Amino acid sequence: MPKASAPTPEQKRANRTAELREQLNAHSYRYHVLDDPIISDAEYDILMHELRALETAHPDLITLDSPTQRVGGAIAEGFAKVRHPRPILSLSNAFGADDVRAWRERIGKYAEQTLGPDFDSTQLDDYVVEPKIDGLTVVLRYENGLFIQGATRGNGSEGEDITPNLRTIKALPLSLRPTPHDSPATLFVRGEAYMTLAAFKKMNAALMAEGEKMFANPRNFAAGSLRQLDSTLTAQRPLNIFCYATLSSLSLAESTDVPRTQSETLAWLRQIGFPVSDISRRFNNLDEVIAYCQTYAARRDDLPFEIDGMVIKLNDLVLAERLGYVGKDPRGALAFKFPAREATTVLNDVKIRIGRTGNIVPNAVLEPVSVGGITISNATLHNFDDIARKDIRIGDRVMVKRAGDVIPYVAGPIVSARTGAERVIVPPTHCPFCETPITRREGEVALYCLNDDCPGKLDRAIAHYAGRGSMDIDGLGDKIVVQLIDAELIEDVADLYALTKEQLIELDKFGDKKAEKLLAAIEASKRQSLERLIVGLGIRHIGEVSSRALAQFYGSLDALLQAKAEELQEIEGVGPIIAQSVAEWIGRDSNRALIAKLQHYGVNPIQEVRRNPAPVVGPFAGKTFVITGTLSQERDAVAAWVTERGGKVTDSVSKKTSYVVVGEAPGASKISKAQQLNIQTLNEEELRNLEI
Ligand code: IVH
Repeated sequence: MPKASAPTPEQKRANRTAELREQLNAHSYRYHVLDDPIISDAEYDILMHELRALETAHPDLITLDSPTQRVGGAIAEGFAKVRHPRPILSLSNAFGADDVRAWRERIGKYAEQTLGPDFDSTQLDDYVVEPKIDGLTVVLRYENGLFIQGATRGNGSEGEDITPNLRTIKALPLSLRPTPHDSPATLFVRGEAYMTLAAFKKMNAALMAEGEKMFANPRNFAAGSLRQLDSTLTAQRPLNIFCYATLSSLSLAESTDVPRTQSETLAWLRQIGFPVSDISRRFNNLDEVIAYCQTYAARRDDLPFEIDGMVIKLNDLVLAERLGYVGKDPRGALAFKFPAREATTVLNDVKIRIGRTGNIVPNAVLEPVSVGGITISNATLHNFDDIARKDIRIGDRVMVKRAGDVIPYVAGPIVSARTGAERVIVPPTHCPFCETPITRREGEVALYCLNDDCPGKLDRAIAHYAGRGSMDIDGLGDKIVVQLIDAELIEDVADLYALTKEQLIELDKFGDKKAEKLLAAIEASKRQSLERLIVGLGIRHIGEVSSRALAQFYGSLDALLQAKAEELQEIEGVGPIIAQSVAEWIGRDSNRALIAKLQHYGVNPIQEVRRNPAPVVGPFAGKTFVITGTLSQERDAVAAWVTERGGKVTDSVSKKTSYVVVGEAPGASKISKAQQLNIQTLNEEELRNLEI
């Protein structure tokens, strides 16, 4: 027997290279497929470094499945065409439980007709349900266990060769793991390449920081990355992949080397090294299939990647194959589609809303479009810096998105759809509601209107309407008001009465109970008094006392709408300033329309008119005030404050005057008259603390 000679240095190097390659690929499998790494990233890097050094010194040691080969090279001449072993089919869609049941019935009948009377249609009731990843279909070819070529779906028969780009996907096995049963010499695997949401956010943030164009969604990002002609760029974009099927030019009935059921296919793919989704499940009952799909419709936001539905597949793949196709869709599988959460539409205008803190929020007025099952005609544009950075223009076709708990927003323009007629959006210099010059706070992107009485503060107006002193709608606090406004469910207080349970339960943190309670409280508010309703309307200067006086004098909204300024002034507890404010309010068309809308919904309290009402109650009742000079607030506001407390404010000092309120630079004649008549004078602070 010849003695085994000691290995030469060349052999040692070759052995070590092979060992490193195997170790690295095994660790990669544990990390990407099993989600169970046993070494740290740093340890992996050390092994990788050693392998790279060996290969650099001895390029003849490089193999196709070396993990160093994931960086790829340039695709020189554009993408070559690749013929798929068999057409890459799509799926027919179901949009709910009924569609799924109809599909089952259809294939049941079809199976009985075509497979003969002996066929028992309950054989169909063995299903696998998988997530429908929102990525890009890829077809991978392995020869003798080595990854040789990968292609896009293309037109279904022919795709594009993107092998170097696919190599950069760390989760994609470059060589298959040995198993007790050899894999076929040629194996085609179908999968979906995608980008995780975390990677998408990170990558987009980086693009933004570099002032580069961002991607609208992870799918577009993944597509853009896979179609890079320079795969070193693809390598910088963390793509991932899930695999779910084998493909062959032979029919399954003829192939002997791949599994015959979907559940075995998934298990086998995972075993030989492919990443397989771990939320795939097998069921033998259609109701459970539907329930599982619905569970994920509600939980899609909990997943680290985007799914646009679930795929229901007959587990028996040979049977599925025998059922054939309708057009390009196999009968044996069905996509349970979730409502799409993005759509494109036209940006018709930008309207401004004032947030609670006075921050100016640009809002998109959109051509109505259905997103995720809800028609959207408004969406937020965040702020003017964001609009400028994304270069969103009026007239643009824009991408609108609506994620589960996120309010609808405009993600960006579709620049290629521009006609040249689009208009650049200019930030306002003055508040569009109250003309107050707009303020920008140091270090903030938001613009502000700092006028407290700005009518643009819709949320405040609605919260005031619902408040304790007015309509007292239990459960309608500030947060929920904002939630309703943001969800585009209300634009004024009257819209509250058109809310439905279906709308409310769509909102975050709204269950059946909470929705029902809120609707009941809103309904109950229809029975509130006229006085409370008038307070709720938020007419400037009007509070409890003047609204009671108005309610008693007019008795109904219709009568109030007919009021004249002169008449209003005469009402005890109203006075000239409040009279003026009421006259102005009812003179505005938008307010009259609001009243009509409230009445339409049944908010129309009527009460008996008392033209000689009981004396106004309030601490200042029976007292007459004269105000002179400048106070901390507008004189009107102070006068209204007095009136609200039952006092009367007049212009000239007379024997009837109870108090003269003196501000800065008062009128000299009024002061001397007060002294003459021995009338008490008060400064502003004394007025505020006056106890009569
Ligand atoms: S099965 C005949 N399974 O959805 C088999 N497709 O509209 C047909 N997709 O183009 C495909 N996840 O790109 C299947 N678990 C999954 C999938 C999946 C995503 C994509 C695939 C296909 C589209 C069907």
